Amino acid sequence: MRLCINIDHVATLRQARREEEPDPVLAAGICELAGADGIVCHLREDRRHIIDRDVRLLKETVKTKLDLEMAATDEMVKIACEIKPYMVTLVPEKRQELTTEGGLDLHAMEMKVSSAIDKLKAEGIKVSVFIEPQPESIDMALEVGSDMIEIHTGKYALIEVYDERILELDKISQTAKIAKELGLGVNAGHGLNYLNIITIANMLDIDEVSIGHSIIARAVFTGLHTAVKEMVEIIRRARQ
Ligand code: PXP
Repeated sequence: MRLCINIDHVATLRQARREEEPDPVLAAGICELAGADGIVCHLREDRRHIIDRDVRLLKETVKTKLDLEMAATDEMVKIACEIKPYMVTLVPEKRQELTTEGGLDLHAMEMKVSSAIDKLKAEGIKVSVFIEPQPESIDMALEVGSDMIEIHTGKYALIEVYDERILELDKISQTAKIAKELGLGVNAGHGLNYLNIITIANMLDIDEVSIGHSIIARAVFTGLHTAVKEMVEIIRRARQ
């Protein structure tokens, strides 16, 4: 299973002072040296953390692969088509939210998402759509022309009641299995940490996870290199 690190919160810290440190571009290099398989950043409409300059420099410096998370808006599609990251993950975006709150409603956004995907794919960019763990969403992901899905694990991460957690895990593994059978790449992310990653890492149909907050939070105490290495090691052991 590949581990991609979301470096948005390095930029959150920088933007708290609107100065130059800490630089998410430098953070990306440290993550790669520590064993990350990819770097993820979310360019939001309000530029609250990652800014355009970061995406441009990351495209030049990331040696593994760059996943640009973004909304399916004309502005973002134009930027992505210019910068050409390895891949784009399309997410819903609300100005008021603290973080992405759930998967895309592909029924409601079919036209917008499929038009964005057409333009991105025409530039050679691979595309993933962030969806809820519902097998029904897979048909829509295929319909809009996505190469991959990213399954939202945020609910699983927050559920405290054991039975409900098992049900949510079942939905995640069913969704992953069906998507895999239909030839889609399968990623997962949101809310994953050093404990709840183990069950997800045991799901062999999931190719890749995208993790940000828990790793950057741990890095405040241990340093980024150690925080990434520890997650790499947990995933490696879970997959053995
Ligand atoms: N995947 C998606 C689609 C996201 O929006 C985010 C948060 O930016 C993540 C993964 C990473 O979530 P977390 O920061 O909770 O690890």
